[in-house]
Amino acid sequence: MDKFIIQGGARLEGEIRISGSKNSGLPILAATILAEGPSVISNLPHLNDITTMLALLRSLGVKVNSEKSSAEIDASRLTELEAPYALVKTMRASILVLGPMLARYGEANVSFPGGCAIGSRPVDIHLRGLEAMGAKIEVDGGYIRATAPRGLKGTHFTMDKVTVGGTENLMMAAALAQGTTVLENAAREPEIVDLARFMIAMGAKIEGVGSGRLEINGVSRMQGCQYTVMPDRIETGTYLTAAAATAGKVKLLATRADILEAVLDKLAETGAHIETGEDWIALDMKGDRPRAVSLTTAPYPAFPTDMQAQFTAMNAVAMGEARVSETIFENRLIQTHELNRMGAQIRLDGNTAIIKGVPQLKGAPVMASDLRASASLVIAAMAARGQTVIDRIYHIDRGYESIEEKFKVLGGHIRRVPG
Ligand code: EPZ
Repeated sequence: MDKFIIQGGARLEGEIRISGSKNSGLPILAATILAEGPSVISNLPHLNDITTMLALLRSLGVKVNSEKSSAEIDASRLTELEAPYALVKTMRASILVLGPMLARYGEANVSFPGGCAIGSRPVDIHLRGLEAMGAKIEVDGGYIRATAPRGLKGTHFTMDKVTVGGTENLMMAAALAQGTTVLENAAREPEIVDLARFMIAMGAKIEGVGSGRLEINGVSRMQGCQYTVMPDRIETGTYLTAAAATAGKVKLLATRADILEAVLDKLAETGAHIETGEDWIALDMKGDRPRAVSLTTAPYPAFPTDMQAQFTAMNAVAMGEARVSETIFENRLIQTHELNRMGAQIRLDGNTAIIKGVPQLKGAPVMASDLRASASLVIAAMAARGQTVIDRIYHIDRGYESIEEKFKVLGGHIRRVPG
């Protein structure tokens, strides 16, 4: 297993380009199953999760032609209606093919995704919503077997928790259902807006995009289109936070400030000077150490759970004390134990981390446990004195394109060694 060796202490300074969004690219790729003709998707990030989704589509019989950051996808005819365990176990987002496959073919078998490091992550709301549209669902031999021989039917469904994946799966299923579906308490994340825009370009009829109430009027067929995936707001936030933690100065290109407001507000609270343009964000700490900032994660437009770990690392080297509460996933503060091994002073009280900032962390061998936890360790290592060795970085390759190259451009001392 590859490792990162990071020599800390450099102020991160410079300009980098942000990649396309992983969490919008994944559902957009799944949604290609809805269409009867080929689509060309551009600005796809080069990541293991995207490669896994393309492999899953190929295994269903989809024709995929991918090069650099774009892919031509023709899902005119699927030859298999089963997402196998071997692929689903490596990536939970595989569940996103369930809704579109069922809507288009009246049948779908998807391996039941298990829990993962950050929490139990059930899919009960996805399944209840599909049942409300008339699907019959059985769980058999570790597989979700969903059937709707006479097609899905529009329904009025209230999700009892805000779920990103649930909203995406049900929106895709409803697009080809007979009649109108209303989804209440829908997630409003920018990635859902991106998926909805892609689907509308393919012929779907969706109203209320970006709100908590989606109204989808089913259509009988959809066609392929050309679409550019939005920038990755979490990658953007990660580099901004890394710059804040190292008293640095960065400019991030090919990104958007309007999808990152809660994060930019918190960065401004640290003392960062932030400027934004149509497609760039600049942050300058003017050489100062950040001030600690408290936060609570919640669904969009509030502070994203996917930025919590990075802010926890920054708070570890900030001036003052912060309380960081994680309300989305039950086990997403585990990286704090690794940060403490680097000299951080973090105490856990239920789902809240109480972080007393220290002037400097000290490099140590640490272990990555999930994608964003890994990013937090990289940030801590950049800000620390001495050398940090981060093990199990395969987690980071799932979600950050060319991370070591980008940190190098910013002056970070990071190298990958094969393990
Ligand atoms: C998406 O996961 C993202 N993944 C996650 O990104 C992100 O952390 C999460 O949304 C929250 O923003 C992708 O977009 C591919 P949820 P998802 O359904 O859809 C509970 C990253 O680091 N729930 O919104 O799986 C669930 O357990 C990641 O890039 C149910 O109870 O998240 C959680 O507590 C990891 N029943 C909460 O809802 C359900 O049927 C939110 O989960 C579904 C979810």
